[in-house]
Amino acid sequence: MPRPGSSRAILEQGSYRAQTGAPRGTTALAAPGPWSSARNRPIVVGRSRRKRWAGLDASSPRALSVSARIGADLKAQIADGTCPPGSALPSTRALAAELGVSRTTVTAAYDQLIAEGYLETRPGGRTRVAAGLRPDPGPREAAAAPPQRLSAFGRRILAMPPPDDAPAPAIDFRTGDLSGEDFPALAWRRALNAALLRRPARLGYGDPRGLPELRAALQAYLWRARGLRCGLDQIVVVNGSQQGIDLCARLLVDPGDRVVMEEPGYRAARGVFSAAGAAIVPVPVDADGLRTGDLAAIGGARLAYVTPSHQFPLGGVLPAARRQALLDWAEASGATIVEDDYDGEYRFDARPVEALLGLDRTGRVIYVGTISKTLSPQLRLGYLVVPPALGAAFAEAKRLADRQAPGLEQAALARFLAEGGYERHLRQVRRRNAERRAALLAALAESFGPAVRVEGAAAGLHLVAWFPQVPAGREAAMAAAARAAGIGVYPVGPTYHEAANRPDRAGLVLGFAGSGPETIRAGIRRLAAALAAAP
Ligand SMILES: Cc1ncc(COP(=O)(O)O)c(C=O)c1O
Repeated sequence: MPRPGSSRAILEQGSYRAQTGAPRGTTALAAPGPWSSARNRPIVVGRSRRKRWAGLDASSPRALSVSARIGADLKAQIADGTCPPGSALPSTRALAAELGVSRTTVTAAYDQLIAEGYLETRPGGRTRVAAGLRPDPGPREAAAAPPQRLSAFGRRILAMPPPDDAPAPAIDFRTGDLSGEDFPALAWRRALNAALLRRPARLGYGDPRGLPELRAALQAYLWRARGLRCGLDQIVVVNGSQQGIDLCARLLVDPGDRVVMEEPGYRAARGVFSAAGAAIVPVPVDADGLRTGDLAAIGGARLAYVTPSHQFPLGGVLPAARRQALLDWAEASGATIVEDDYDGEYRFDARPVEALLGLDRTGRVIYVGTISKTLSPQLRLGYLVVPPALGAAFAEAKRLADRQAPGLEQAALARFLAEGGYERHLRQVRRRNAERRAALLAALAESFGPAVRVEGAAAGLHLVAWFPQVPAGREAAMAAAARAAGIGVYPVGPTYHEAANRPDRAGLVLGFAGSGPETIRAGIRRLAAALAAAP
């Protein structure tokens, strides 16, 4: 009869006991009991000096260190009651000898479990399972677990239509994607390297509004490229437009507030305001963007979200008279305007139009800019220009959201902007995207002729292809037929807030910045063939 608590006792009690079926020359050790199969893999110890461990595979998540596996098995035995609270463990020397591992390995396993509170030890005493631990009753039936109570915000976002997360098809016309070939990898690496080599003496949190040198570089860029004058304190660097819009909603919108949105409009912005509990007030757009004449009938709106330089998705550019009407309405109704200038850098028939912010004399406009359309949506960098009176609120909201945008990328962008690399890159991508746009327009004309009418191609990186003879109800079937042929196209319907506002003909939103001209041509030919063959 072995002494209680000796390694032999633990082994016989089932903690580490030989099992049959182990490879020759090894001893398989595992704990019995109602373990899950993942836990119940035997540990196999070689009898030779070279130890071998079953399941120890560097490419698998089981690639735990030996001491981690001993620890995991001990935890499992504590959980299933094999090692009850207060029971003594074998000495590290005894268990190491029994398992054929070094004593250091077992000591490391014990130390880790002591640190986690599973084991206790007293000077001169045996290591024991911590008193007061309760055996784990095992995974609870999902159905029996009480549902977590979501906040009103959580309930609102779960009630929204699910995002389209389908894997990308072979040729994808998704808006927002850029071609990987356009990314200026060498220039960006130089900028990142330079930022890395600065090696600050201390690593700490910075100004939540962003690195001062990036804000200064953005200030100069906005003046050069968009004719905008603003103070440094008005610029807040954010993680893409999306965060900028989210901060606007947090700071300016209470549940029940009315928020004017373009109809159709940008779903990701609508999602933010809906999640904040806003009452969305859709205002129709036409070929010139928001129909500002319709605003007069809207009283008490708190905020309006607009894309005046290139309406998303229909592509209209808001003319000067409508810009003035929009600003006048905002002033009269006390509303704030969020101007999303997401792709204002791309204008194919003339110079980029002036930003709405440039006309704002009363501090009502929040300007949202991004590098997602010029450098990469993966960098997650954008910026806000906020009215001076809102600077402190935005700085604090950004600090509470995530402290600050990533410093290294900010420093790289600051350098890229200040040294002229950004604008050199812009000239290149403008040219390439002009070629892609021309390829798309020619391919649509060639494959569909008068069966397609193109809207909104004068600016930006997408257009809308309307199919006047196809009823709107066919949009989803068109997208599905295209996807079956390996082509990603996106119906215009879901960009409408209210189904009743959808036009009766089908339309597809086609982004063209993600692929080269040849791929675009091939994609449109395949699209035409797939639609022609669709039932
Ligand atoms: C209307 C609009 N705003 C903003 C963005 C960019 O968002 P972000 O800067 O968060 O990447 C896009 C991207 O497609 C967009 O379509």
